Amino acid sequence: MNLLSKTTNAVPDGLAYFVDQIPEQSDFLAEVISGLSQSPKSIPPKFFYDETGSYLFNKICETPEYYVTRTEIALLNNNGTEISALIGTASNVMEYGCGSSLKINALLSALHEPAEYLAIDISHEHLIQTAKSVAKTFPAVKVGALCADFMEIVDLPKEFGVTGKAPLLFFPGSTIGNQTPGEAGQFLGRVRNLLGANGSILIGVDLKKDKNILNRAYDDAEGFTAAFNLNLLKRMKNELKAEVDVGSFYHLAFFNEQQSRVEMHLVSKRAQTITFEGSTFEFLPDETIHTENSYKYSLKEFSKIAENNGFTVRKTWTDQNKLFSIQYLVSV
Ligand code: AVJ
Repeated sequence: MNLLSKTTNAVPDGLAYFVDQIPEQSDFLAEVISGLSQSPKSIPPKFFYDETGSYLFNKICETPEYYVTRTEIALLNNNGTEISALIGTASNVMEYGCGSSLKINALLSALHEPAEYLAIDISHEHLIQTAKSVAKTFPAVKVGALCADFMEIVDLPKEFGVTGKAPLLFFPGSTIGNQTPGEAGQFLGRVRNLLGANGSILIGVDLKKDKNILNRAYDDAEGFTAAFNLNLLKRMKNELKAEVDVGSFYHLAFFNEQQSRVEMHLVSKRAQTITFEGSTFEFLPDETIHTENSYKYSLKEFSKIAENNGFTVRKTWTDQNKLFSIQYLVSV
């Protein structure tokens, strides 16, 4: 843990401990300038989630087209007995990225006398909100919080896992899909080191499927995904004082079969120039800003990545239509 990290005295109500690793906040200006200077132009997807973006993401999760969230929650609810039997009693659960407490509630309800829950998120607000709510719902579970960037964790709070039972990482949502397969492998390797021998992961992994289902899931009829994507331009206007007409771009999402990923782009409707903070960026008509990749895997492909990086897939659960998977990985 870095030198700045500290266990604060002000432990929020209901929590056993709170460790603030003081994660470095991403520099929107610097990363937008760097992304727009490249060819092809890009902006990283982590910038979607300001207050408006987080609201829009929740709306996306409720659309009929975006099967991801609802399928994953159903898988957790329908397979609780089996999941619990595999994970065993008195587990020490940690979670990367605490969006909605619905999923962790489903998991902790299914498990047999879970001992501990450690919430981990880069957003202080989301973190404390989720941790507090879990502590309230599960008074018998020791709940702690770690404010950190899960891509950079090298050390867990000393208060976590005191029973000595190896931790279980809960990583739902197919968040791993934002990384390339190579990066996802490296990520699993780092998690393997962090969790140690006997560590395990319960991970949500989105599956390859008919491209029409994917194209619709990332371009819902109500336009929440389009608004979510275009919100990046609004952020540039509001926060960077960029001179840009949001209406001069449109949302584009499509499944790239070659790369097995859904790509999201902002497409410039015409030739134009965007100016802010003294920088100028030229767009040709139809030129795009690539804003997200969401990789889709076959069960076999993902299992290969796990096997190459210190884990073996002990069990997978999928829905009837094979849209989504929850996978239980144990370290080897
Ligand atoms: C949060 C990264 C899993 O890739 O499906 C949803 C984000 N983007 N609709 C995904 C997202 C557009 C989502 N992840």
